[in-house]
Amino acid sequence: MDHFNYKDGILHAEDVPLTRIAEAVGTPVYVYSTATLTRHFKLFQQALDWTQHLVCFAVKANSNIAVLKVLADLGAGMDIVSAGEYARAKAAGVPGERIVFSGVGKTGDEMRMVLEGGIRQFNVESEPELELLSQIASSMGVEAPIAIRVNPDVDAKTHEKIATGKSENKFGIPIARAREVYARAARLPGIQVVGVDMHIGSQLTDLDPFRQAYAKMADLTRALRDDGHDIRRLDMGGGLGIPYRRDNNAPPLPIEFGQVVRETVGDLGCEIEIEPGRNIAGNAGILLSSVIYLKEGEGRDFLILDAAMNDLVRPAMYGAHHDIVPVIEPSVGAAVSAFDVVGPVCETGDTFDKGVQLSALAPGGLVAFRSAGAYGAVMASEYNSRPLVPEVLVQGDQFAVIRARPSLEEMLARDSIPEWL
Ligand code: LLP
Repeated sequence: MDHFNYKDGILHAEDVPLTRIAEAVGTPVYVYSTATLTRHFKLFQQALDWTQHLVCFAVKANSNIAVLKVLADLGAGMDIVSAGEYARAKAAGVPGERIVFSGVGKTGDEMRMVLEGGIRQFNVESEPELELLSQIASSMGVEAPIAIRVNPDVDAKTHEKIATGKSENKFGIPIARAREVYARAARLPGIQVVGVDMHIGSQLTDLDPFRQAYAKMADLTRALRDDGHDIRRLDMGGGLGIPYRRDNNAPPLPIEFGQVVRETVGDLGCEIEIEPGRNIAGNAGILLSSVIYLKEGEGRDFLILDAAMNDLVRPAMYGAHHDIVPVIEPSVGAAVSAFDVVGPVCETGDTFDKGVQLSALAPGGLVAFRSAGAYGAVMASEYNSRPLVPEVLVQGDQFAVIRARPSLEEMLARDSIPEWL
C-alpha cells in the first residue's frame, strides 16, 4: 500500500496534488511520501517484534538525507557501502552504533573513517579485507566488530544482475570455507567476531531462497558456536521484492518474511539485523514527468517525455517495468491508445516501455512512474548534460524540495579548463 492516489481526478502524493509540485518545482522530479516510508519501515519492525532486532535501511536504495532522517527518527539503523553513504547516514543523525558497513571493496581510508566516527559492525566479504581491517584497527588501538558475509550458494530466482548469493557471484565467503575464515578472524588482532551476515539478492518474490539460505545460516551458527565463537548477531540482508505491477502477483509481505526468519534462526537467541532497501522506499516514491511531444511513427506512436534513462535507468539497465500513469485521471470510458514511452536521450535504449495504453495526453500533460522511490534518484546521472533530477518530500499537505535541480551554471562549474589550454 502506498499514499499515491487519485483524489478529485488528480493523482496526489498524500494530500498534495502532483500538479502543484510540477508547477512549483518543474519536471522531471522525484516525489516521496513520508507516510509510505513510515508505514513500510514499521511493517519490518512488527515482522521482527518477537525478538531483539535492528532494521538497517539499505542506503543505496535512496540516500537523500531527508529520507534517511524520516527513517532514523523512527529508530532505523543504516546499511552503508561507502564513505559517502556513511557521511549521509551521520548527517541524518544516525549514531555509529546503528550503522553496518557492507560491500566487497572497502578501502583502508573508509575503514579508518568509520572506526573513528563509530560503527556497529563491518560485514566482511573477503580474507584480504579482514587482514587490512585487522591492521588498521590495531594501528588505531581499537577492535573492529565484524560479521563475515557468507555466500550460501542458493539461487535467489531474481534478475541475474541483482542476484548475489550464488557461488559464481563476487559476494561473501563460500559457506564451505566459513569456519576456517572465522578461526582466522578470531586469531587476528583488532578484530572482534560478533555475528554472521548474508544477503542473497534483491527483488526476491519467493520466500524459498531465503528459507534455504537462512537454514544454512542456522547450521553454520551452531557450528561456529561449537568452535568457540561468540555469535550474537545475525544479519539476514535485504532483498524482499515489491509489487511493480498492480496485479494479483504481489510478493510476500514483511510479516511473512519475518516468519521465515523466526522459523529458521529464531531459536538461536541472536539479535536479528535486516537490511531492506527497496521494500521500504520503492513504493514510497514516484518520478513525475511531462510530455514534450506526441510523435507518430511507422505503425507506432511515441510519447516523448522530459524524463529519460539518466533520471530513471532501471528500464534500460534491467528491462525493469514501472507503471506509467497519467496525473489527471482519465474520465470513465475515455479512449486509450498505445504509446512507446521514451525519453529525450540519444539512445534507442532510452525507452521506458512499449505499447503502454494511455488516454490522449497533450504536450505539457503529466505522467507518473510508480515504484520509483528505490534505485531511482540514486542511480541518476547527468548523461546528455541533463542536470541531476531533483527530489521532493511530501508529508500530509506540505512538501519540500530535498534536493534542488542544479542550474546549468552549477553543472558547468564542476568542470575546469587547465591553464595550459
Ligand atoms: N544489503 C546488501 C548487502 C545489498 O547489496 C543490498 C542491495 C541490500 C541490502 C538491499 O536490497 P533490497 O532490500 O533493496 O533488495 N539497482 C538494482 C538493485 C541492486 C541491489 C543491490 N544490493 C535495481 O534497481 O533493481
